[in-house]
Amino acid sequence: MADSLTKSEQRSSLHGHWSSRVGFILAVTGAAVGLGNIWKFPYMAGMNGGGAFVLIYLACVLVIGLPIMMSEIMIGRRGRRNPVATMQILGEEESGQRKWGLVGIIGVLGGFIILSFYSVIAGWTVAYVFKTASNEFANTNAQSVSEAFNSFVGNPFITGFWHTAFMTMTVILVALGVEKGLEKAVRFMVPALLVLLLVLLGYAINSGSFMEGVVFMFQPDFSKVDGGTVLAAMGQAFFTLSVGMGSIMAYGAYLPQDTSIVQTSIAVVVADTAIAILAGLVIFPIVFANGLETAEGPGLIFQTLPLAFGQLAGGAIFGTLFFLLLGFAALTSAISLMEPAVAWMIESHRLSRPKAAIVIGIVIWLLGFLTVLSFSTLKDLTFLQGTIFDNLDYLASNIMLPLGGLAITIFAGWIMCRNSSADELDPVAGSVYKLWRLLTRYVVPVAVVLVFLNAIGVFS
Ligand code: TRP
Repeated sequence: MADSLTKSEQRSSLHGHWSSRVGFILAVTGAAVGLGNIWKFPYMAGMNGGGAFVLIYLACVLVIGLPIMMSEIMIGRRGRRNPVATMQILGEEESGQRKWGLVGIIGVLGGFIILSFYSVIAGWTVAYVFKTASNEFANTNAQSVSEAFNSFVGNPFITGFWHTAFMTMTVILVALGVEKGLEKAVRFMVPALLVLLLVLLGYAINSGSFMEGVVFMFQPDFSKVDGGTVLAAMGQAFFTLSVGMGSIMAYGAYLPQDTSIVQTSIAVVVADTAIAILAGLVIFPIVFANGLETAEGPGLIFQTLPLAFGQLAGGAIFGTLFFLLLGFAALTSAISLMEPAVAWMIESHRLSRPKAAIVIGIVIWLLGFLTVLSFSTLKDLTFLQGTIFDNLDYLASNIMLPLGGLAITIFAGWIMCRNSSADELDPVAGSVYKLWRLLTRYVVPVAVVLVFLNAIGVFS
């Protein structure tokens, strides 16, 4: 009798289910869409020369990110536990090796590092809600917007305060266990963000150097590409899709059995990529029209968008709304960054959800001050990749996420038997499944390894 049930049906989830297929799509979209699309993508593209970076990023999203997202959801749903326990259970089941749990643990650590700086940048965003609302940027110019930004991030007490506020909100929502309640917020937030980006796009077309921006973003100049650029583009693909550390796996654990993993993943990837491209098309025309630098770095959106809001009719309102929505988008992502660690603490250490959220939240909050300081007091302290923030981001995005993704891919493609993955992904084992399996077994692992080797200069 149990034979007719798949493994994930026999293993009922400890946490119940998302309310529906759409609910799950919204939750994963909420995790994926965030600062990675609007804050990080434009500045990474700007620092890495534009077109070629964008092209490599798109290729990585499609060929590497999408199959890994499918694998993560598939593994999560089959294991039905937090990522650490899920990898242990499935590792035991498929190969007699509980050691696969290590993949979950590395993911939990990666989530700590990412959220520590993510919360600081989200704090900047919340601060800018108030700055735009008070009409601080009306009829301003590029120089004073930059000065305002530099003096803002240069003050660790103020940015530390906003980081604390954002982390507190994240902890409260995770403690209440409202992940599933977020469906409603995401349903409204993502379309609203899209509308505001379109308003800004209209502004960029009218008053920015739009064509210059388009050329910068889409005309690849491969002479600017080196191993580091390719690694950065791959890291950005992992970061923006939220794959490689178990966030999506943790969400997959609550996924109803009858939902198509393939369709869900494609929907999320398309939405996520469209928002990033749109953000780039808004930012770069403003950069060129105001004589700013494309390689401005993490301050890029805070030094360009206020110019648009300062000049647009109703700009104070649009600006306030925009930063508010971006703050919300960051919140739904931050929650997904905490979920693997919190679910793990609850299930394996028998802690209550509020206690687990508070303990983990405090650790991440403290870690966040490294980033607060690396834009202020310690901004001249540079080593390896740059400031402390640059190093944390590099370690998590360019090393930990791809390594986690590699392990997840190898597990899904080589360790899990064909029946298990076909069972979850596509019971009829049609051509989509065959393509996924081809990508997962050969293309993704080889591509990730080549990008790593290329980055350390093996081919040059
Ligand atoms: N993808 C989110 C963004 O673009 C950030 C994020 C959420 C994330 N969960 C993640 C990044 C897990 C890496 C891994 O803003």
